[in-house]
Amino acid sequence: NGVAPDAKNLRVKLVLLGDSGVGKSCIVLRFVRGQFDPTSKVTVGASFLSQTVALQDSTTVKFEIWDTAGQERYAALAPLYYRGAAVAVVVYDITSPESFAKAQYWVKELQKHGSPDIVMALVGNKADLQEKREVAVQDGLDQAEKNGMLFMETSAKTADNINQLFEILRII
Ligand code: GTP
Ligand code: MG
Repeated sequence: NGVAPDAKNLRVKLVLLGDSGVGKSCIVLRFVRGQFDPTSKVTVGASFLSQTVALQDSTTVKFEIWDTAGQERYAALAPLYYRGAAVAVVVYDITSPESFAKAQYWVKELQKHGSPDIVMALVGNKADLQEKREVAVQDGLDQAEKNGMLFMETSAKTADNINQLFEILRII
C-alpha cells in the first residue's frame, strides 16, 4: 500500500491534492529544496519529486511525492496518483473558502476511491496571509477531526510548519 519496508529504508508514497493555486508545488519545493517561488507556475498533469529524510535510529524515509495539478481539467487524472498512496495531503488556502470546499471534495473522493488505510492530512496553506484569512483555524480543525485526518496550517513562503508537516507524516 505504498509503504515498503526494506531493511531500515522506508518508502512512503505521498500525493498532494487541492485546488489550483493553493500552494501544493510551493510546499513541495520548500520541503525538498528549501526554496520559495513567488512566480510558481501551474502544474501540468503532475510532477514527481523525492526526498529522503533520516530518523533518529539510522532509519531513512524516502518520500515519493506526487504533486498533482489542481486545475479542473486535470481532475480525472488524480486517481492515477492517489491510487496506492500511503499518505494524502489535501491542501487549501486559508484566504479562499472555495479552496476549502474543494478540499472537502478531495477528502470524499479519497474516502471512496483511495486505499482504505490511507493516512490523510488536511493542510491550510498561506498562513502568512493572516490579514486576508477567510477560513478559521477551527473550521479546518473541525473538518479534519470529522474525517480522522491530521491537521496543520503551513506557509510555504515563510517555511512555517513545512518540515513539521512531513515530520508527522513520516511517523506513520
Ligand atoms: P496548481 O499546480 O495549479 O495545482 O497550483 P499549486 O497548488 O501547485 O500552487 P503553487 O504552489 O504553484 O502556488 C500558487 C501561488 O501561490 C504562487 O504565486 C505562489 O507563490 C503562492 N504561494 C504558495 N504558497 C504560498 C504561501 O505559503 N504564502 C503565500 N503568501 N503565497 C504562497
Ligand atoms: Mg502546482
